[in-house]
Amino acid sequence: MKIGVFDSGVGGLTVLRELVKLVPQADYLYFGDTARLPYGSKSVETIQKYAVSATKYLEQQGAEMLVIACNTATALALDAIKASTKLAVAGVIEPGAEAAAAATKKKNVLVIGTEATIGSHAYRTALEKRGVRAAEKACPLFVPLIEEGWAEHDITQRVAHVYLDEFFQDPDRSPDLMVLGCTHYPLIKPMLRAVAPWRVEIVDSAEATAAVVAKQLSSPGHSQLATRSSQLRFFATDSVEKFRRLGERFMGRAIANVEHVDIEA
Ligand code: DGL
Repeated sequence: MKIGVFDSGVGGLTVLRELVKLVPQADYLYFGDTARLPYGSKSVETIQKYAVSATKYLEQQGAEMLVIACNTATALALDAIKASTKLAVAGVIEPGAEAAAAATKKKNVLVIGTEATIGSHAYRTALEKRGVRAAEKACPLFVPLIEEGWAEHDITQRVAHVYLDEFFQDPDRSPDLMVLGCTHYPLIKPMLRAVAPWRVEIVDSAEATAAVVAKQLSSPGHSQLATRSSQLRFFATDSVEKFRRLGERFMGRAIANVEHVDIEA
């Protein structure tokens, strides 16, 4: 099985990292649309156009299933992607919402993500369907701060306090769980752990998505070869060198086999 993983850039490598752990029997084609990122501040029309062209490319390269690792693309373009392909497509929002709904005791959660993800209310809709109330907060400064390498910097922690403190002031009414609704946020999970009160659980949509894909592929018909290690191939629409350098931080290991793609051509 060859799984195509799509993201606006390097952030989706946090999803690929989890997939490789939980689904080692698959090989992966990862597409990072680095020339056109960020998606988080763009319009729905633009995101749909970009996402459909990128996932078509993955299909042409032999992907047999698609994972939309980008929260913004899942929130705004999942239906458009599904309509453009016959392949099975998994996004990150339903798995993230499902994991959050299963874990929250107060049925009251906070979702953080890019402006576009939060503006779409895709997480809120998915959570409300499961009987969970969701507050939502766009945190647009986190992506550039993380890409700058400042995941552990004081400034990032101060920014987090500015974004999040208001949600946790009243212990009775505040959420008992926070959903990381953006590919980049797993890198600041330890810092967010320190910013949110200890009673607040953190759910990472990257982990939740990998668990759902693992479950789908462990059904009869899909072979499990536990000792095998996945073959990885990467495509980037901007500098291969930059993808490799930045990507290693998200993937947690060295990255080889990066090819440049001119998607407009
Ligand atoms: N991958 C995006 C997401 O998960 C974050 C980066 C971007 O805005 O392109 O929402």
